[in-house]
Amino acid sequence: MCGIIGYIGEKKAVNILMTGLKMMEYRGYDSSGISVLEDDKIVIKKKKGKISELEHEIAGTDFLSNIGIAHTRWATHGEPSDENAHPHFDNSGKISIVHNGIIENYQTLKTTLEKEGYKISTPTDTEVLAVLIGAKYDIVKNLDHAVRLALSEVEGTFGLLAMCSEEPDKFVAARRGSPLVLGIGDDEYIVASDNAAIIQATKRVIYLRDNEMVVVDKDGFITKTITNESTKIKVEEIEYNESEIQKGGYDYFMLKEIHEQPETVRNACRGRLMSNDGNIKLGGLHSVEDKLRKAKRIIITACGTSWHAALVGEYLIESMAKIPVEVEYASEFRYRDAIIEKDDIVFVISQSGETADTLAAAKEAKQKGALVLGIVNAVGSTIARETEAGIYIHAGPEIGVASTKAFTSQLTVLTQLAIYLGRMRGMNQLDGKKLATAIEQLPDQIQQILEREEDIKKIADSMKGVKNCLYLGRGYNYPVALEGALKLKEISYIHAEGYPAAEMKHGPIALIDEDMPVVFIATHDEIYDKVISNIEEVKARNGKVIAIASEGDEQIKNIVDKVIYIPETVPCLTPILAVIPLQLLSYYAALNLGLDVDKPRNLAKSVTVE
Ligand code: G6P
Repeated sequence: MCGIIGYIGEKKAVNILMTGLKMMEYRGYDSSGISVLEDDKIVIKKKKGKISELEHEIAGTDFLSNIGIAHTRWATHGEPSDENAHPHFDNSGKISIVHNGIIENYQTLKTTLEKEGYKISTPTDTEVLAVLIGAKYDIVKNLDHAVRLALSEVEGTFGLLAMCSEEPDKFVAARRGSPLVLGIGDDEYIVASDNAAIIQATKRVIYLRDNEMVVVDKDGFITKTITNESTKIKVEEIEYNESEIQKGGYDYFMLKEIHEQPETVRNACRGRLMSNDGNIKLGGLHSVEDKLRKAKRIIITACGTSWHAALVGEYLIESMAKIPVEVEYASEFRYRDAIIEKDDIVFVISQSGETADTLAAAKEAKQKGALVLGIVNAVGSTIARETEAGIYIHAGPEIGVASTKAFTSQLTVLTQLAIYLGRMRGMNQLDGKKLATAIEQLPDQIQQILEREEDIKKIADSMKGVKNCLYLGRGYNYPVALEGALKLKEISYIHAEGYPAAEMKHGPIALIDEDMPVVFIATHDEIYDKVISNIEEVKARNGKVIAIASEGDEQIKNIVDKVIYIPETVPCLTPILAVIPLQLLSYYAALNLGLDVDKPRNLAKSVTVE
């Protein structure tokens, strides 16, 4: 949520900043801006709308500056507008800042500053911080000292970059809650919210820790805490390459990521699946194996799509490992008085590894004494580093705001986790082998579904004009119904609800008429007949049914309006296959409406605010 970047080096800063912003546009895209130093003065250019608007704004100006900071925004305080866009100036116009996060006590700070005669002209929390840093600068005349003093008065979260025309060869970065990475190039440094913006210059990085800051100039950098204590640095190498974050011939990242799933599911199993002896090897959990063996209860916490994966995880682990599992929204878990007992284990699931609520839930659980483990995609992300141990899902960078490949990789990892825990607790080898073999078939089965893309597109075409949609499934397919509905509303803005199919008769059935499509996930399992009864109930009320069904199910064709077949697998793996047509359905529904699939309105890929 919001992407920030700062550069200092030999090159023209503006080029690096603009490239970096584009790589981070998925983090927020309602406005953007840059701040550079021209003729000893800070120049700010900022514009409402996508980064292309800013590009247009600065086209034709040759900025020579070798230093600059920039921002792409997802509004929290103050509507998206040119004025509210970052960077913000202090009152002197000598300091500019960009900020990712929320200053919670900005009203109090604003009142105090205004009483002291400072002017604040926008409703943003960030301008208050800029003016506060300026006020401190008036006293100490040193940028890093001023930033430290200001931050000591701030409550909330920040990834912050500040530059000052009085100290032209330096910028300061600080973080609490929001991510920041320092890239170390040859005679150049980049600080950004995300590795994606850094790899244009270097793969050598330092991940800043919470409450850490770094002062960067042309000759080097110094890290310290925001209370001015020295810190140790650890230089690491970024793992992914640039080609992974290009669209590779697809119109949208989302479509590319949907098509990557045969490979990403394979990657989620690589080196883990021991199908010959029905075992799973999870190296990342080796150090906590004893504790896992003794686990009395597992809590899984996450947000959004990752929360849907957690729901499938609950069914998987309870069924295979017979350990009670509870799933909690991270945003609820962190604030309610959740009881954590000895031998409880908390898994946090996050694609980005930066979601503020999930991170806070992890910290809360840790503080209450639980063993906290991560299931994360972004290597080196805050959640990956804050958890005791964990499993990477290895899906590669996910850029499309609507999560697709991360979901199927999370499910693949959760299935392996359930087998791994099950094998510790009495699951026999034969069952382990059967499941491992079924997992091995998934990539090819996903490929088969992707080959039916044209048929799915036609079904999406038939949904033109639809305003509401219901998604229903039972058992393992209930979370898939939730995920299908989320995908549709996220990117097409069509209202959609997911329900356990049998709950339909307790309310949603009242909505059914010939104008509302109902998507059923009706694959072969022990409750198939019950789902068919639910379909009949919808048909009896003139509802239009689209079914996701198992290959070979000829009977269903006679009852429903449209069928999308998926290959037969064991019921617990159905979600990994059943979600693929739902992803494509929402993709084409959004495309038919002429929407920007990768950047749906109001959303952001990584929600680093509460
Ligand atoms: C945002 C994204 C979703 C994602 C959720 C949780 O809402 O738009 O796609 O599922 O955050 O993100 P995480 O990175 O923690 O999985």
